[in-house]
Amino acid sequence: MTLDTQRIRADFPILSETVHGHPVTFLDSAASSQKPLAVLQAMDDVYRHRYANVHRGVYLFSDEATQCYDAARAKIAAFFGARETEEIVFTRNATESLNLLAYSYARALLQPGDEIVLTELEHHANFVPWLEAARTHGLVLKFAPLTKDGRIDEVQFASLLGPRTRLVSFAHVSNVLGTITDPRPLIERAHAVGAKVILDGCQSAPHMPVDVQALGCDFYVCSGHKMLGPTGIGVLYGRRELLEAMPPFMTGGDMISHVGFDGARWADIPLKFEAGTPAFVEAIGLGAAIDYLQALGMHNVRAHERALTAYALERLSTVRGLRLLGPLDPDVHGGVASFTLERIHPHDLASLLDEQGIAVRAGHHCAQPLHARLGITATARASFYVYTLPEEIDRLIDGIEYAQRVLKR
Ligand SMILES: Cc1ncc(COP(=O)(O)O)c(C=O)c1O
Repeated sequence: MTLDTQRIRADFPILSETVHGHPVTFLDSAASSQKPLAVLQAMDDVYRHRYANVHRGVYLFSDEATQCYDAARAKIAAFFGARETEEIVFTRNATESLNLLAYSYARALLQPGDEIVLTELEHHANFVPWLEAARTHGLVLKFAPLTKDGRIDEVQFASLLGPRTRLVSFAHVSNVLGTITDPRPLIERAHAVGAKVILDGCQSAPHMPVDVQALGCDFYVCSGHKMLGPTGIGVLYGRRELLEAMPPFMTGGDMISHVGFDGARWADIPLKFEAGTPAFVEAIGLGAAIDYLQALGMHNVRAHERALTAYALERLSTVRGLRLLGPLDPDVHGGVASFTLERIHPHDLASLLDEQGIAVRAGHHCAQPLHARLGITATARASFYVYTLPEEIDRLIDGIEYAQRVLKR
């Protein structure tokens, strides 16, 4: 293992909890990760020692809070390789980032009949905002199909692009299939027809190095809570000229340069998109999470998860009646393992695992169209992160076999 997982675990107080009398085996980090002390302490420090609203006061607390908030934005810009700090907009989560784009880019700047290309593996967050924009604004949605092993079919993807394609949006890593897509060839093809590309980085930002300029995407979105940060803070990266061309998503305080009785002028980016008091303590917490991840090294994080995924896929494939979803090659499979079990519903499995202190996700994982495409309604999903041990995968396998015995199937 490339990370010292035992040492890392000591930084996560929640991992020493017990659940139903068992040590907790937390295998649901793809839904939301646990938080290290460094993040809890960074937020505690603001509340105890320098809490005041940002961008408003001329007194010390406000000034210090503002400096910490601005520093967090700069850290995030550097982490994702953005050209400028102003290209990072804070939102509540990836869902809000995508809604912002659906309103301020698609609805505001596209014309009826313009086309948006998505894929069949998208999370609802990268599905429903576009369905709604299409419905209300006459935009046309197209969905790139998948190959048998759950990858985006590049040939079919390319065949959907045309002169009316204005936007392409897809997940860098699938939250169900685990598929890691190399976005560069898809981005190049999209750019060749003049389309802009949004990358849903919810499952890549926490788990691998991401450089938005090297990838060449126009927008990148992710959620802080999946990458060791707190809830309530998300990121939208956008190229300056695109963000500048977009109207605000929400209006009010903090996002204006001047307000009169007859109208208002907007602040420059990123504040134009950050109406109202921002979640600045959460942004500072996310900054601390990024410091933590950078100290581990994102290449090491990915190598650790690749090894765990390889082990999990190998062990799960030996379980009777278990069908794995997504690519079997750990080089293109992020740290999630989704599966079905013959004659056992994922919810029954998850409940029996919970009795043993093992937390996995069961259901459609906010990807109903994908499940429909696969001809199933639900899967069980185990997901891994920097604190996951191979022994926890062993416990999962034992737990599945226990469930099979209890249910005598
Ligand atoms: C690929 C992907 N996109 C988007 C989201 C939405 O994230 P959030 O609920 O934090 O907005 C998720 C969350 O699971 C996800 O996995």
